[in-house]
Amino acid sequence: MALSTNDIPGQIREVKKRLRQQVGDYAGVFQAVSKAMETEVERIKRLNETGSAIPEFDFADIGPEGFNDEQRRLIEIAGSAVIHNTLPRDETDSNNEQLANYIVSNGYYTQVPEATDNYFSQLKSDKPQIFGIYWSKAQIWARQHPNMAQVRKHLNRVWKWQDGDQVHFDPDLNLAYADRIRRREPGDASLGLSPHVDSGSIERWIEPNYNHVYHKLFSQNWQEYDAFDGTARTAVEEFPSPAVCSMFRTYQGWVAMTPQGPGDGTLQMVPSYLAVPYMLLRAIQDDVPEDDLCGAAPGRALTVSPQWHPLLLEGLVSIPHMNAGDTVWWHPDTIHAVEDVHGGTGYSNVIYVGAVPDCDKNRSFLPKQKDAFLKGASCPDFAAENYELKYTDRASVDDLTELGKKQMGF
Ligand SMILES: [Fe+2]
Repeated sequence: MALSTNDIPGQIREVKKRLRQQVGDYAGVFQAVSKAMETEVERIKRLNETGSAIPEFDFADIGPEGFNDEQRRLIEIAGSAVIHNTLPRDETDSNNEQLANYIVSNGYYTQVPEATDNYFSQLKSDKPQIFGIYWSKAQIWARQHPNMAQVRKHLNRVWKWQDGDQVHFDPDLNLAYADRIRRREPGDASLGLSPHVDSGSIERWIEPNYNHVYHKLFSQNWQEYDAFDGTARTAVEEFPSPAVCSMFRTYQGWVAMTPQGPGDGTLQMVPSYLAVPYMLLRAIQDDVPEDDLCGAAPGRALTVSPQWHPLLLEGLVSIPHMNAGDTVWWHPDTIHAVEDVHGGTGYSNVIYVGAVPDCDKNRSFLPKQKDAFLKGASCPDFAAENYELKYTDRASVDDLTELGKKQMGF
């Protein structure tokens, strides 16, 4: 069934009726989830007093078998992880320099894009912080680095990726998704991003595959809900929007190209698996208008609001200090935000690289992405700014390793 934007208020009224019937005592279930979420917020605050509520690992801590049971449990609860020293420091530094040269010497700052990016254009100040750059050698380096392949494979395996003979995705092979970069100057006070969740807004209530993903939540057995169960996740359909990623990501993530920490205009999260369950059940309570899902709107990110979710905002914390070569990863249901002001002293630069496991949905995106790569056009998921068409020193097929070729669908 294709999603329809017809009569959204009517669809919302319909789905609320259905979900309330499905749950039964929906006020009671929400109360129980709220209690559990309060405990989660206490946990986050307690951990953040002495360290980080986002579990931190060192690349060297991850054994050849992947995360051990205790490590897995931490990732499942927090819906996120930081892996220090994922990429060697010296390689990261030289790639950061290469990337800066690529942007400056090709004239990015004075160039007029072929098309404008409406989604991010409101965020622009004098200089951009998110760059429509997809094919620098540094990005290729990050996407195809064997350490990244290793980390993503083990992170994917935290998910339930098969059920009997039904394989949801291949955890051991990650495909390339040509995402962008962030370079934020010290002192930059252009807007950050307010707390939100990617991968769909009202879809989470009305889309049939999401209904399956969340069916345990909308029942008396909400404790049995498993955010890391891959069943139906790769089949989810979203309203088309420049804010939406066409590929299924087990985690969004980035590589720190420079050191950065709290206060440096960097990432914040509500590191709890319970945050989206709380939002889903909150919206079907009686005090929310019948045709509203706490402000969720099609084609937009699902936002966390002071009006409806003050408890969740109490659990918003900055990620720990990151050094060049460290990576951070968050589950598609993890609430995240970007600090408004960069109050630090150095550039805070990142290359976005998510975990994109091989599956039908993800493979079907590769041909058009490959064409864009060969031409130097923008990744087809983003505005066709096409900055890099004539750039010198752009990555070519010769820069792809065997794994890089596989990831790109060559
Ligand atoms: Fe986001």
